[in-house]
Amino acid sequence: MTSSLRDVYNPLLFEIAWEVANKVGGIYTVLKTKVPVTVHEYGDRYCLIGPLSYKTAPMEVESMEPPNKEIRETLETMSKYGVKYLFGRWLIEGAPYVLLFDTGSVANKLDEWKGDLWNVAGIPSPPSDSETNEAILFGYLVAWFLGDIAGKFNDPSHETRPAIIAHFHEWLAGVAVPLCKKRRIDVTTIFTTHATLLGRYLAAGSVDLYNSLRHFDVDHEAGKRGIYHRYCIERAAAHCSDVFTTVSHITAYESEHLLKRKPDGVLPNGLNVVKFSAMHEFQNLHALSKEKINDFVRGHFYGHYDWDLEGNTLYFFIAGRYEYRNKGVDMFVEALGRLNHRLQAAGSPMTVVAFIIMPATTHSFTVEALKGQAVTKQLKETVSGIQDRIGKRIFENALRGHEIDINSLLSDEDKVLLKRRVFALKRSSLPPIVTHNIAGDSEDPVLGQLRRLQLFNNEHDRVKVVFHPEFLNANNPLLSLDYEEFVRGCHLGVFPSYYEPWGYTPAECTVMGVPSITTNLSGFGCFMEENIENSEDYGIYIVDRRMKSVEESIQQLSDQMFRFCQKSRRQRINQRNRTERLSDLLDWKRMGLEYIKARQLALRRAYPDSFDEDDEDLGTETQHVKIPKPLSAPGSPRFRGANGHQMPQDEDEEDDEYPFPVIVRRKNSTREEELLQEGDIASLNK
Ligand code: UDP
Ligand code: G6P
Ligand code: GLC
Repeated sequence: MTSSLRDVYNPLLFEIAWEVANKVGGIYTVLKTKVPVTVHEYGDRYCLIGPLSYKTAPMEVESMEPPNKEIRETLETMSKYGVKYLFGRWLIEGAPYVLLFDTGSVANKLDEWKGDLWNVAGIPSPPSDSETNEAILFGYLVAWFLGDIAGKFNDPSHETRPAIIAHFHEWLAGVAVPLCKKRRIDVTTIFTTHATLLGRYLAAGSVDLYNSLRHFDVDHEAGKRGIYHRYCIERAAAHCSDVFTTVSHITAYESEHLLKRKPDGVLPNGLNVVKFSAMHEFQNLHALSKEKINDFVRGHFYGHYDWDLEGNTLYFFIAGRYEYRNKGVDMFVEALGRLNHRLQAAGSPMTVVAFIIMPATTHSFTVEALKGQAVTKQLKETVSGIQDRIGKRIFENALRGHEIDINSLLSDEDKVLLKRRVFALKRSSLPPIVTHNIAGDSEDPVLGQLRRLQLFNNEHDRVKVVFHPEFLNANNPLLSLDYEEFVRGCHLGVFPSYYEPWGYTPAECTVMGVPSITTNLSGFGCFMEENIENSEDYGIYIVDRRMKSVEESIQQLSDQMFRFCQKSRRQRINQRNRTERLSDLLDWKRMGLEYIKARQLALRRAYPDSFDEDDEDLGTETQHVKIPKPLSAPGSPRFRGANGHQMPQDEDEEDDEYPFPVIVRRKNSTREEELLQEGDIASLNK
């Protein structure tokens, strides 16, 4: 019988997810941006485990021999049984160890493992669901690996006996959790869900999800949607983990009812906040990126480009996976229709260009979209050639002391060339509302709605739309910007989600100093609402999708966008400054604290006797302090001078420097928290 005492002060940490070094959506962002703080705390005791994709792995990972003897031996044993893997360093900030398993190398084990999963955990799996098959292969590989490693460290002859924490994310990595439990593998497990399968499906339909949560017959609903087996994996992972967590309170509530286990805690998502040494650098980046978007817009709207791009144009956008209802694109487009009418009716000088960046199945770019960029590029080149020639002529004439005849500066050939280019800019059709040929164009919900609302990029429209059904990257021939660059160049991100456990897109806007609209049904929106007073002054607009009807929410969204359009440039600059100052609130240096607590809880649950008696549990009591409204925002009611005249609007003056206080102050500050606040995470486990 081996002693159950483990070194809980120097544990090993394995973090397991389908999106490790494998970009799909927000979970990749969680893992990638969290690495620096986790590496700071765990150093070489940290390793992430994910699936091996031969297509993307070479760009993501630099391979190396595992330096740790136990890991090396375990992987050697597994490879004798045909398991292929890649061990190395993930090429991101923090460069953590990463282990990627090739599920294809064990495909011959699929039937055996599926049978076992049914026998040990009662989880069925139909033959045709390839995603579930992958999840099963991956889960069995991870459980095999963890079982072998834990056995090695648990051997009485082993000099150190570190506790092992295995932290799993989302159902796709969940199969190993019940296996760890059934096989009594000596690790402590955490399962974090970033959504519930059933919640996402129900929300996408026509169900009133949040008011019906308590009443669903979950097995029946999962069965009806053909996801019962996936649901079983998710539910087993939630129930078999030592600690179960999720990313927001709203998803915690949903998990309690749909997965039937109340989460032990909420681990909100952070970001790796990079501060520029120059305070206003992010403002300069906005201007630079905006210029690139301007170039695209000039090309896209050629022939109809008759508005003021420099002073009176605003760029709004929505981006993310194409979930029409869940991501709130339906609401965005509807509100754009109303905004268009309001700007027209008000005789506003503003033009809004609204981008919808959501990947759909397409057959390449449309000819019209490509042509726009080509003809403007040609015109630009022609003008620059003419400029050179005119320059030379002026220079030559001036050098010889000749008078300069303005009328002869443009040669006849250049005049013809210019005419030809201008002629090419004439078009008989309106600028396209979509940049690609979408498969099933007539059934596409966004296109259908744009057509119904007649948002066709007409000259009289003050709201122009561009649906770009592909994620962005700098090699794109139309919109040649990376996503981050694009966001920086825009004025407002609009994310009126209906189903959004966290929602990174508005959080990313915030740390880049770009105002955004979110909702009180998104984890991020609720988090900001809890932490900031008058969040709109800080550039965080929150649409009420809980207490208002759909009609009222659309109206509120269109009001918010309209108000934004009424701001002066100075006011926009000030608002961006305030938005950017919220970054610290979202930094993993703060948010990471909740992960530390979850791991502590997992260790205490699995190895209660291994803790020193006088070692206090982490305090969880919190005293909440909201960030007050910014000093520079207009007071309510506005301060008036003695004669009743309004005082000069301070919002138009240079913005105040407002260092906000610590948001969540803890009553029982433990050593761990103090270290964390000092940024000394490395000493935490000493
Ligand atoms: N994203 C991206 N390129 C794009 C649009 C979005 O890389 O053109 C990223 C974005 O930066 C964010 C993630 O996709 O990190 C979406 O995460 P979110 O949590 O908002 O939603 P999810 O897809 O996980 O539901
Ligand atoms: C940044 C730049 C300014 C620029 C402004 C444009 O603040 O530093 O030079 O004038 O952006 O702001 P706008 O909201 O009009 O794009
Ligand atoms: C999920 C959710 C998203 C969240 C992300 C990271 O994919 O849909 O709201 O931000 O996970 O937690």
